[in-house]
Amino acid sequence: MATDHFIPRHPRAAAVLSLIGNTALVPLRFEAEGLTIHAKCEFLNPSGSIKDRLAKTVLVDAERRGLLQPDSVILECSSGNTGIAMSMLGAAMGYRVTILMSQGASVERRHLIQQLGATLILFESEGRYQTGITMSREMAAKDSKYFLPRQFENVLNVEDHELHTGREIIEQLDGPVDAFVTGYGTGGTLAGIGKALKSRYPTAKIYAMEPSEAALLLGEMPCCHQIEGIADGFIPQLLKDAPLDGEVKVTSRDAMAMTKRLHREFGLLVGTSSGANVVAALKLASDLGPEKRVVTLLCDRAERYFSTSLFDHSSNPPPV
Ligand SMILES: Cc1ncc(COP(=O)(O)O)c(C=O)c1O
Repeated sequence: MATDHFIPRHPRAAAVLSLIGNTALVPLRFEAEGLTIHAKCEFLNPSGSIKDRLAKTVLVDAERRGLLQPDSVILECSSGNTGIAMSMLGAAMGYRVTILMSQGASVERRHLIQQLGATLILFESEGRYQTGITMSREMAAKDSKYFLPRQFENVLNVEDHELHTGREIIEQLDGPVDAFVTGYGTGGTLAGIGKALKSRYPTAKIYAMEPSEAALLLGEMPCCHQIEGIADGFIPQLLKDAPLDGEVKVTSRDAMAMTKRLHREFGLLVGTSSGANVVAALKLASDLGPEKRVVTLLCDRAERYFSTSLFDHSSNPPPV
């Protein structure tokens, strides 16, 4: 769905809507490894994550189709980034927002959601989503004011990444992509970008990054991992028709270490899943050879992890 020529009900919303997408794609040169990978900087979206794209496409579509009324409440279950994105656009577009979030999500995310004026409902579920999704459905069944973006099943989630994020990569790289890798939460990003790249470059390989502790696509049992925002303990339905060629496992420990390298060696203040994606991309670049072009995503910003072990400075090495 094209969102480019949309006139929002509240004209003030145009400002923040115009900042979403068209993020930079930059080469990251790892001198010690002798490898370069290409990273799309999704943390540059206005609320700080790739999820701004999903929020924009779903809410613009809903407003256009008359599914959002002035008294509607946007209700979504989110581990944080989608909640922040929905809260940001709810504020700008003039809708109330209620976010259902697992108690395990970082406290910074709660602050951002509340700062944007949204209501937060926390649920206990050891980081699992199903509880929150069921709660949101029950609330919507009882009260028609709730609008559910349904990020886990909404096909716009895939379509938007195919039409925009994927196409942007194709235009920005100006030449074939050999491999693309990223983690999955709803699977929308991986499925959408995967489809766009495969249709332009049929030989491009598409890989899912999975935490080693929760490699579900590889048939392993989900366990606790520290890569927030991805791998919620089930295989999402949007991933089922993704053109996947394989999986790359990354430990939480390696993800943390690489995220700190991105902070201290590259000056890129990104979150843990970005570090995990970069570890996976470097593995692929090393397997495929230095002349091949491997693309990944830097999904969100570091400041939503201040209270996590990512910001434990006691074990930091001196800067290089
Ligand atoms: C923090 C974060 N949010 C979101 C995503 C993508 O999520 P989805 O699969 O829901 O599109 C990723 C993917 O790597 C991520 O790291």
